[in-house]
Amino acid sequence: MYNIEVWTPSNATSILLGHDRETYIAMTTNRELTKAITDKLSTRFVGRQLYYYAKLTSTMNMAREKASKGAPEGTVIIANQQTSGRGRLGRAWFSPQGNLALSLILKPRIENLTQLIMVASLAVVKAIKSVSDIDATIKWPNDVLVRDKKVCGILIESEVKGNAVHFAVLGIGINIDLDTTAFPEIAAIATSLTQESGSNISRAELTATLLTEIEKLYLEAQAGMPIHKEWRERMDTLGKWIEVKSGDAIERGKAEDVTENGNLILRHANDSITEILVGDVTVLKS
Ligand code: BTN
Repeated sequence: MYNIEVWTPSNATSILLGHDRETYIAMTTNRELTKAITDKLSTRFVGRQLYYYAKLTSTMNMAREKASKGAPEGTVIIANQQTSGRGRLGRAWFSPQGNLALSLILKPRIENLTQLIMVASLAVVKAIKSVSDIDATIKWPNDVLVRDKKVCGILIESEVKGNAVHFAVLGIGINIDLDTTAFPEIAAIATSLTQESGSNISRAELTATLLTEIEKLYLEAQAGMPIHKEWRERMDTLGKWIEVKSGDAIERGKAEDVTENGNLILRHANDSITEILVGDVTVLKS
């Protein structure tokens, strides 16, 4: 059995009587959507506990809170809307209704922690292909692009104590049904699945497919199967001249390869090589 919870505020009775129409609609939609997702799931543990909220500050906060209280591996938090969605490197993540904002609690062995980046981005690419036939690519380390514009961002946070991963939270934001042209701050760099496919994408089907792909790849990675090769094949950063910003440091060079730990190998103009663990890539030329 799947455990489904729909967030209900303390004045739920009056809301259900129709006094707060927006929240009522959100609750009803959430209930239907949650059922539609779980109906399509055939996973062993990912999504077995699925919490769906009309509005959260960030699904990352809720997932961390639940993980700290002992929520099992595979617990999923979804929000219809986030008011303070966060991205990598301290950035904000724009997260209005219509997008998918999801956080998943995982408890990998420490040696598998770095593979979560590959698991997540590869699973997103596969799920997008499956529901829309769109060929998405990966921009190192884990942005998912369609025709060079960002359609998905991934954030991984973990609590590690000594040599043990207490928990990791994998946060995924996908622009499903967003008219990015209406938002000047992201119009030039972002796109959505609806815009790219020209047709409606089912949130429930995309979510269920995504969770299924994540579980499959995660179990493969834990079992020592090589997912790095496939991740590398989907990466469109390789072979390009790029700039990588990491804090105040800026490195320029040709993206030569990615290591099995997910690090980027950058070859500079003077032929020296740097291995980069974290950063933000801008493509200078192909
Ligand atoms: C990035 O591209 O910088 C990462 C964006 C990650 C956004 C997702 S949406 C679900 C989860 N909740 C958040 O606040 N962030 C992640």
